[in-house]
Amino acid sequence: MTMDTDIIQIKDKRFAVSIAEADILKEVDRVAALINHDLKGKNPLFLCVLNGSFMFASDLMKRISIPCEVSFVKLASYQGVSSTGVIKEIIGLNEDITGRTVVIVEDIVDTGLTMQRLLESLGTRRPKEIHIATLLVKPDKLKVDLDIEYAAMQIPNEFIVGYGLDYDGFGRNYKDIYTVINED
Ligand code: IMP
Ligand code: MG
Repeated sequence: MTMDTDIIQIKDKRFAVSIAEADILKEVDRVAALINHDLKGKNPLFLCVLNGSFMFASDLMKRISIPCEVSFVKLASYQGVSSTGVIKEIIGLNEDITGRTVVIVEDIVDTGLTMQRLLESLGTRRPKEIHIATLLVKPDKLKVDLDIEYAAMQIPNEFIVGYGLDYDGFGRNYKDIYTVINED
């Protein structure tokens, strides 16, 4: 029997459990069932965005029962000469997505700028359609208009870690989701 820790410390911040694994998995079940229904016969290619989506991707893909492919990409940030500042390039995409049904698998959509950039970049490769599956959405922070069909959960505008998400590289390994404790 292992002891669960309700409060964790990462660097200068403390976090408390806010969404337990069992509750996360219920929502992952729900989203997987929707995808199995909607994308049946479409032979989708799931593009999981590393690092943050690794736990969600694992639990989601175990529940996908239709024929599909699974691949992983990373987004490399660099300061671009553009008004938006940081441009993110997709690295590790070896599949030809022309004519394919693509499902982006992300950890969290915050402002939505990362997702928007990803959609633009993938869009130039002529896929048949692109769907968005994300573990979390912070609706209060969303700045761009996105059609997020498969969102497991919505959360308030607070910083979280766990279940793949990090604070300065740490915290990805926890099975539950933790919310930062405001100490002031
Ligand atoms: P966006 O471009 O503002 O939507 O930011 C998306 C990225 O910011 C995510 O893929 C995460 O890497 C990171 N992010 C946003 N909110 C959080 C959070 O609460 N905890 C950890 N990472 C976050
Ligand atoms: Mg991410």
